[in-house]
Amino acid sequence: MRISVQSALITLASTSACAGQGYTNESEVPLYGQSPPVYPSPVGNGTSNSKWSASYARAKELVGQMTLEEKANITRGFTGRCVGNSGAIPRLNIPPLCFADAPDGIRGQEFVSAFPAQIHLAATFSKDLMYQYGHALGKEYRGKGINVALGPVAGPLGRVARGGRNWEGLSNDPYLAGIGMGAVTRGMQDTGVISTPKHWLLNEQEFRRRPNQDVEGEALSSNVDDRTLHELYAFPFMDSLREGAGSVMCSYQRVNNSYGCQNSKLLNGILKTELGFEGFVVSDWQAQHAGVATANAGLDIVMPDGGFWGQNLTDAVNNGSVSTDRINDMATRIIATWYQLGQDQDYPEIGVYSNLQKHLAVEVQDDHADLIREIGAAGTVLVKNVNNTLPLKNPKFLTVYGYDAVVKTNPWQNPSRFGGGYEVNFGWNTLNGTMITGGGSGSSTPSYVISPFQAINERIAKNRGTIRWDFESENPYSPYVNAEACLVFINAYASESFDRTSLTDGFSDNLVNNVAANCSNTIVVVHSTGIRTVDAWIEHPNVTAVLFGLLPGQESGNSIADILYGDVAPSGKLPFTVAKNESDYGALLNSSVSFDAFPQDDFTEGVYIDYRAFDRDNIEPRYEFGFGLTYTTFNYSGLQIANTNLRVDSLPDPNISIVQGGHPQLWDVVQSINATVGNSGSVAAYEVAQLYVGIPDSPARQLRGFERIWLAAGETKTVTFDLTRRDLSIWDVVAQQWRVQEGEYQAWVGASSRDLRLNGTFSIRN
Ligand SMILES: *[C@@H]1O[C@H](CO)[C@@H](O)[C@H](O)[C@H]1NC(C)=O
Ligand SMILES: *[C@@H]1O[C@H](CO)[C@@H](O)[C@H](O)[C@H]1NC(C)=O
Ligand SMILES: *[C@@H]1O[C@H](CO)[C@@H](O)[C@H](O)[C@H]1NC(C)=O
Ligand SMILES: *[C@@H]1O[C@H](CO)[C@@H](O)[C@H](O)[C@H]1NC(C)=O
Ligand SMILES: *[C@@H]1O[C@H](CO)[C@@H](O)[C@H](O)[C@H]1NC(C)=O
Ligand SMILES: *[C@@H]1O[C@H](CO)[C@@H](O)[C@H](O)[C@H]1NC(C)=O
Ligand SMILES: *[C@@H]1O[C@H](CO)[C@@H](O)[C@H](O)[C@H]1NC(C)=O
Ligand SMILES: *[C@@H]1O[C@H](CO)[C@@H](O)[C@H](O)[C@H]1NC(C)=O
Ligand SMILES: *[C@@H]1O[C@H](CO)[C@@H](O)[C@H](O)[C@H]1NC(C)=O
Ligand SMILES: *[C@@H]1O[C@H](CO)[C@@H](O)[C@H](O)[C@H]1NC(C)=O
Ligand SMILES: *[C@@H]1O[C@H](CO)[C@@H](O)[C@H](O)[C@H]1NC(C)=O
Ligand SMILES: *[C@@H]1O[C@H](CO)[C@@H](O)[C@H](O)[C@H]1NC(C)=O
Repeated sequence: MRISVQSALITLASTSACAGQGYTNESEVPLYGQSPPVYPSPVGNGTSNSKWSASYARAKELVGQMTLEEKANITRGFTGRCVGNSGAIPRLNIPPLCFADAPDGIRGQEFVSAFPAQIHLAATFSKDLMYQYGHALGKEYRGKGINVALGPVAGPLGRVARGGRNWEGLSNDPYLAGIGMGAVTRGMQDTGVISTPKHWLLNEQEFRRRPNQDVEGEALSSNVDDRTLHELYAFPFMDSLREGAGSVMCSYQRVNNSYGCQNSKLLNGILKTELGFEGFVVSDWQAQHAGVATANAGLDIVMPDGGFWGQNLTDAVNNGSVSTDRINDMATRIIATWYQLGQDQDYPEIGVYSNLQKHLAVEVQDDHADLIREIGAAGTVLVKNVNNTLPLKNPKFLTVYGYDAVVKTNPWQNPSRFGGGYEVNFGWNTLNGTMITGGGSGSSTPSYVISPFQAINERIAKNRGTIRWDFESENPYSPYVNAEACLVFINAYASESFDRTSLTDGFSDNLVNNVAANCSNTIVVVHSTGIRTVDAWIEHPNVTAVLFGLLPGQESGNSIADILYGDVAPSGKLPFTVAKNESDYGALLNSSVSFDAFPQDDFTEGVYIDYRAFDRDNIEPRYEFGFGLTYTTFNYSGLQIANTNLRVDSLPDPNISIVQGGHPQLWDVVQSINATVGNSGSVAAYEVAQLYVGIPDSPARQLRGFERIWLAAGETKTVTFDLTRRDLSIWDVVAQQWRVQEGEYQAWVGASSRDLRLNGTFSIRN
């Protein structure tokens, strides 16, 4: 049996009237958003490379020995020590696989590290740090005997400015997110841990992401046209797949009215056929809403319990509604991935424990604090610095204000969630302390936190200085005329389960303005889960420096002190656009709010989110995507654009078979562009040189290259940006493939999406 889907496809033009129309009966919802059926589910065979085919050969051999009950056992979850535990097969010595959160550190365990959140990692624009992050995190997962790490995240991508989970992912730009997804996946899997890019796909908001959540009725349906789906939302997942990701998590909400874990177009079609996925699809927790339909649509394992499977799946195979091929494929994909990552040999024992029982301490932090501190500083973005206010010059007297400067939340309130979580929130409320991660299942659980105040306090003490503070007041007493600077720490919280209601808050804005009224050198640090508007005070003449500290992880205080004192020159760049007014985000400010029984969310903006929309509408942002200052200046020169040999009719060769990640020729380097960057100031620093490309019939400019380069004062280096076929292609909805177009392509190299220092063009001919 198959889910009843209508194959009727209608064009985007007739989609205008969906949300808010009061539909109470699904058959009345306009036809837009019917997902085309794609059956049967592709059978994995390890065709991507010889390593996968060897893993498949061994997996087939093992699955061949399994009974139907055993196959139905490893495709479901059980209660156990981990967040997710697959069924074991004791008879064949197959252990249960342990699945665990979170993308920025193992959640709910002791002796683990709290890494910066992935939005913070994205702000480094450093491919090297992205890899190191994945590798260190992977070592911790492995050390705890966890088989499957639930990350990295490219969904949500960050379509909605106030989306609750945007901070878990690697920015709303698909290219930046893709580079990060690929590097983190590779780093993690190099340690033998299975990575799980999530959530596949279009899980762009929290409101009504699940059925009967917030409002009674089905979950929201994200309806997006085919081209946008490929160029924006699937794009970063391709990089993870290309690097060999062993698992993919399907999402809670519906896509074209079909649930993420039973959408055959998304799972059988795009993921397993077009992108050649060899691993297994795991459901988000409780995201399964049917038995036969999910199996046939391509779901391979259900979490956290038996869901609609277990005995039902055995029955469904026996009565023919799920084929034997399908259940064999489900089991084979799981076992093949286990072999592929080498987990059948010498994998550590599960070292995950409940806090309520006396247990062994399995310490996995290693020396990761150093990397965390480095990334914490590297992802900090300096956006204002009047007259070289920063770095501080050996300060003797500082004042520190704001709830976000200190650790305040009682760790004994909920130890497993200290550092963020559903219950203990690091919001702007004065009862809350410094924020190092966001809330929900994506939170890390720090074993300790170095607060900003602690780190600054220590530096002042060493320098025999004086420090004064007030972490409570909205209007602090500030007659310290001798203070050299007033540091104000504020934050902007967000969590899984709900979207943000504002990109700012009155308490924090008043605090900054009140301090600035009496302090001519006011330095503001904003720890934020994403966009935080600053126009309530950004032009105040006494606000002399502003930093977006984002979500830096456990070494927060050391990371920010390194920047404030100039031990590290900032190099972070904004991974999103900070608008002057919240209304500048237009329809993409808020999540879609519908109280219908079958809520529809049409992504009518297409690929025009964040800077793509600001550029199209000519809206001047406060701080544009890619922007960030440092303690020196750089000059750009010498743009060189190669003559590409690429021809419109040369690609991609249909006789070459698909491997995981898509058509292999998509990754061929087809064009290269050089630029020279020089450090014209007196401080050594990293610069992130960025390449934007104007592709015909596309947004004005899209990020298609970046390099973070170290330049001593006076030093000059040549940067090379290699462009792949995919980087220059659009998704051709008629041909159903990535294709370059005939015409002129524009290229810009600069220091942000609007600070474009060099430009040139190249052509692709027929
Ligand atoms: C929904 O509408 C269809 C067509 O109008 C009708 O046949 C069906 O009975 C309705 N279902 C419910 C539950 O009202
Ligand atoms: C959703 O529907 C649109 C419009 O019919 C279609 O272009 C797109 O391919 C569909 N996507 C999925 C995943 O079903
Ligand atoms: C799968 O791979 C095996 C071993 O390489 C091969 O014998 C078999 O024909 C392949 N099956 C399919 C359906 O491609
Ligand atoms: C199924 O998995 C559970 C949990 O790991 C295990 O206790 C049980 O023995 C397994 N059943 C079979 C038939 O192997
Ligand atoms: C089987 O399906 C029924 C509903 O069809 C459900 O109540 C049950 O929980 C399912 N799961 C298992 C593991 O049997
Ligand atoms: C086959 O079994 C499944 C699981 O119990 C059930 O949902 C389905 O309705 C059955 N189909 C037929 C045709 O009996
Ligand atoms: C910056 O410094 C210059 C030169 O000392 C001075 O004229 C100017 O007023 C200063 N600007 C601000 C905003 O303090
Ligand atoms: C943190 O602040 C939020 C408001 O943003 C408040 O609801 C919550 O109770 C505070 N948490 C604690 C532990 O004080
Ligand atoms: C701030 O300065 C204003 C005048 O500039 C003064 O009236 C007020 O008392 C000061 N506030 C504090 C808390 O020092
Ligand atoms: C700037 O701070 C000084 C105190 O140092 C104060 O006298 C002045 O009024 C402040 N400026 C503004 C615009 O608030
Ligand atoms: C870019 O620089 C590299 C290394 O210096 C050089 O090999 C290459 O030819 C240059 N490309 C162009 C287009 O000038
Ligand atoms: C290219 O650069 C030149 C020189 O800086 C500038 O005048 C021109 O406007 C730029 N063109 C584009 C399309 O950015």
